[in-house]
Amino acid sequence: MRYLSPALNVMMAAARKAGRALIRDFGELENLQISKKGPADFVTSADQRTERVLVEELSKARPGYCFLLEERGLVEGPDKTHRFIIDPIDGTTNFMHGLPQFAISIALEREGQLVSALVFNPVTDEMFVAERGQGAYLNEKRLRVAARKNLNESLIASGAPFMGKEGHDQFLAELRAVLDATAGMRRFGAASLDLAWMAAGKFDAFWERSLQPWDIAAGILLVREAGGVVTDLTGRDRMMETGDILAANDALHKPLFDLIRGAKA
Ligand code: IPD
Ligand code: CA
Ligand code: CA
Repeated sequence: MRYLSPALNVMMAAARKAGRALIRDFGELENLQISKKGPADFVTSADQRTERVLVEELSKARPGYCFLLEERGLVEGPDKTHRFIIDPIDGTTNFMHGLPQFAISIALEREGQLVSALVFNPVTDEMFVAERGQGAYLNEKRLRVAARKNLNESLIASGAPFMGKEGHDQFLAELRAVLDATAGMRRFGAASLDLAWMAAGKFDAFWERSLQPWDIAAGILLVREAGGVVTDLTGRDRMMETGDILAANDALHKPLFDLIRGAKA
């Protein structure tokens, strides 16, 4: 990694500290306390503790910054120009089922612009980071999105709405269109890692609807810094407001956008 800002260093240290406890929880899932946020939407004691540790560590190093937190919402600080956006465990369902596909996701905004990002899977020890204008990295390796130019040879990832979420029929229509036109699709269960893996060129594109800012903030910067294109599903730069996202390389973004927009439930 050529350049690591002091802020990103602080974020990485916080994620590593919270990640150590998360690995212990992952090894003792039978002790996990679980409560429901919605019909099939769970929060565990591990989500809450991880968020607390991250906020503690980041506030020590950057007192006054604001936070947007999955489990506690907006926490204002006196410094309105900086905001950390945090998903303590992205992929809670995987975590609860013993599937090692989950991550801590932290993004830092300055004046409303994403400047630093981190997606960390503590089980695999994969630390994806990006710095605005400085590229995206996995551990020490520079990331580039895949170079495939044709939909029919592309592997596409997505997220499916679960029980209690809207948009099942629309998702099925979009899925059908993607299955008909591509080499395949995957649903891994952690949007932040989907975007990080796309940045790493493991698959060619990712789309999903109705996400939250903490699911995607870090991933957006990772993909852009790896040379990818990210928009919402109207083609604008409003993913965090609409919750809808399409990320792909330059060649695939337009055909995939047209395909998904053309899919009607
Ligand atoms: C979820 C994951 C999943 C996506 C869901 C998100 P959580 O986040 O990112 O991949 O499909 O929509 O809610 O609840 O595990 O933090
Ligand atoms: Ca999430
Ligand atoms: Ca979460």
